[in-house]
Amino acid sequence: MGNNAPIGVFDSGLGGLTVLKEIIRNLPSEGTIYLGDTARVPYGIRSPEVVTRYSFENTRFLLSRGIKLLVIACNTASAISLEKLKQDVNIPVIGVIEPGARAALKATRNGRIGVIGTETTIRSGAYARVLASLQPEVSVFSRPCPLFVPLVEEGWVDNEVALLAAKRYLAGLVEEGIDTVVLGCTHYPLLKKTIAEVMGGAVALIDSANETAREIKEVLAGQSLLNGAANAPMREFYATDAPERFKLLGGRFLGPDADYINNVKLMEVWDETRWTQK
Ligand code: DGL
Repeated sequence: MGNNAPIGVFDSGLGGLTVLKEIIRNLPSEGTIYLGDTARVPYGIRSPEVVTRYSFENTRFLLSRGIKLLVIACNTASAISLEKLKQDVNIPVIGVIEPGARAALKATRNGRIGVIGTETTIRSGAYARVLASLQPEVSVFSRPCPLFVPLVEEGWVDNEVALLAAKRYLAGLVEEGIDTVVLGCTHYPLLKKTIAEVMGGAVALIDSANETAREIKEVLAGQSLLNGAANAPMREFYATDAPERFKLLGGRFLGPDADYINNVKLMEVWDETRWTQK
């Protein structure tokens, strides 16, 4: 594996494209392979055991493609399986929780931070733990927002249904006097406008994508793994189901200039049980 090996990125579906977009913006000469586990999305309602199994299967696939660094572009999978994957894999592994926590600490002025995410992410307490370890005196207020992911996957990001859901989920957070909210799910940046409408303009909305990209750059530079080659970097996309739908909706996450998402291949889920069970 050399410096021109790609960066591997996985998410349960489309959400991780918000992270990929920032990786490409910050590291334009790095090749990327993205895997969206569309056959098994959402992860955010599943048990830690199942999220861990899916994360390992996704990782095994990306490793088989010769990646030099792995990005878990999913808060749920990062919250549950980052440490286990780090122990198992012999390339650098980067999750999105710590970068999001760092960005929130840079933004807050009153030390009152809200965290929103999937049920599994919030139940794991990962953000509260990382925030407390970086700055023990902050107060953290967490809320699961389970309907946000299907709303985003449906493209309903700024209509009256999204606004109603945001009001129901976030009203309690507004009352806590927080000045910063971590969008602790890679789908949520697409709901920024609606969330801002409910939280009010004075509350900073933090997504971990940019800080994650910065960390990737730092790690690659630190290990002398940055790609210096001048040829156009590879951009590969895989989905575990409905690749055409992935391509169609992926454009929404990546923005109008993302003509590199021109071919999404189908990758069948590597379910180990198929081989180990009689
Ligand atoms: N993108 C995932 C995350 O960041 C959430 C979507 C899901 O529930 O699978 O947590």
